[in-house]
Amino acid sequence: MFYSFSSFLLSKDVRVVEWIPETCLQDFYRCPIQSYRVVAAMFNAASFIDETVKELADRIKGVAVMGVSGGVDSTTAAILVNKAIGTNLRCVLVDTGYMRKNEIENNEKMLRKLGLNVIVVDAKERFYDKLKGIFDPEQKRKIIGELFIRVFEEVARKENAKFFVQGTIAPDWIESGGGLRDRIKSHHNVGGLPEKIEFEIVEPLRDLYKDEVRVVGKELGLPEELYGRQPFPGPGLAVRILGEADPASAGIVREACAIAEEEIEKAAANGEMSRPWQYFAVLLPCKTVGVHGDVRVYGNIIAVRAVESLDGMSAAYSKIPHAVLERISVRITNTLKDFVTRVVFDVTNKPPGTIEYE
Ligand code: XMP
Repeated sequence: MFYSFSSFLLSKDVRVVEWIPETCLQDFYRCPIQSYRVVAAMFNAASFIDETVKELADRIKGVAVMGVSGGVDSTTAAILVNKAIGTNLRCVLVDTGYMRKNEIENNEKMLRKLGLNVIVVDAKERFYDKLKGIFDPEQKRKIIGELFIRVFEEVARKENAKFFVQGTIAPDWIESGGGLRDRIKSHHNVGGLPEKIEFEIVEPLRDLYKDEVRVVGKELGLPEELYGRQPFPGPGLAVRILGEADPASAGIVREACAIAEEEIEKAAANGEMSRPWQYFAVLLPCKTVGVHGDVRVYGNIIAVRAVESLDGMSAAYSKIPHAVLERISVRITNTLKDFVTRVVFDVTNKPPGTIEYE
């Protein structure tokens, strides 16, 4: 037990104190305590795994349904629950229509290879339908959060499950606000949850940050390409289409994201740069004049975003070599020439900009 914040900081369990400037900017008076994230030296992934698996086995009686995306958080959480309850875990991979190129097929294969029991639900049309005419980012996130839960409830009813597992991590609920905290954005799995839910929610990674989840994933024996994977938001490409997330816009941003990811990964593999913490493309809701040959065209703008971060709470834009940016720009404007006439690179840190645009 610590008698003061400073005695806690001086204790032997504390190795790193990370300043989180955006919480400081939100409210000066909460600055001294809430702006610091204390990373305990004693975070021991092996004991975290042992304790969590025991707790999960005690708590979950019968079948549990879990929302998985194939990302680091949900896959790590799924492996923990799988260790606790085995085949009683049903992992639900929802095709929202806002996933990246080939992501559903690749992730389904990868999750099955890890020994997980996977159910794929094609909910593309439901998501497109619910988001028709919706422009506000918070409303989008709430609609997506609710629809995810409704899909999970349907599976839970069929499977007779009373528990629902989520891969929620600390920044998700910190940024979603509540109590004394301001809402930065409603993460789909926290602030986007509807008030009435049919099952009990279990969140084994709730207190961990991204870097800690990666350590747990590594300790669990996940392949590096998985625990080192860049984050992808639950609402998917819907928050990378500014304004109405219609299916045509999803197609454009999906292709642009695939090109940005591919070129950056290629450049990192051949030593031109190091792989950023997160990197993607965003479709901006405005049009710009361009020229094809000697014909005037009027198309969209794609913004390329790449950041360095530890846990997503703060970030600095990545200093990507111009040659790589040029390849991304040329490929996007060639491949999507009927839609995109301009590519820009975002040089905003977090704060003031968040990593995703919505
Ligand atoms: P922001 O945009 O808030 O993002 O700076 C911080 C990190 O969180 C990811 N992110 C989300 N992840 N559900 C998620 O699972 C969400 O609703 C969500 N919103 C943002 C984002 O990609 C970044 O890595």
